[in-house]
Amino acid sequence: MVVYSFIEKHDFSGKTVVPFNTHEGSGNAGTYETLKSLMPGAILKGDGFNMTGSMARTEEGIKKLDDWLSGL
Ligand SMILES: Cc1cc2nc3c(=O)[nH]c(=O)nc-3n(C[C@H](O)[C@H](O)[C@H](O)COP(=O)(O)O)c2cc1C
Repeated sequence: MVVYSFIEKHDFSGKTVVPFNTHEGSGNAGTYETLKSLMPGAILKGDGFNMTGSMARTEEGIKKLDDWLSGL
């Protein structure tokens, strides 16, 4: 909610936004769609990226993150 409140108070028109998050089971929890609706003028790049926090701490997770970043 704190992120949504921040977004609502700022103008993201023309800004490039790359959604990503960690979680522990809920994936993106629909937040990428919510971001789209809260930032109508923003350029959302990529389809978003998420992984579990436990995976993010591993070499495999870091490689997945690097691969995603390289593909943007
Ligand atoms: C869309 C979304 C889904 C999340 N789902 C979970 C979850 O299923 N379980 C959990 O323990 N934390 C969940 N989190 C919390 C994050 O894993 C993380 O702990 C939190 O965003 C704080 O990390 P930060 O300080 O790096 O932003 C979720 C966060 C987001 C944004």
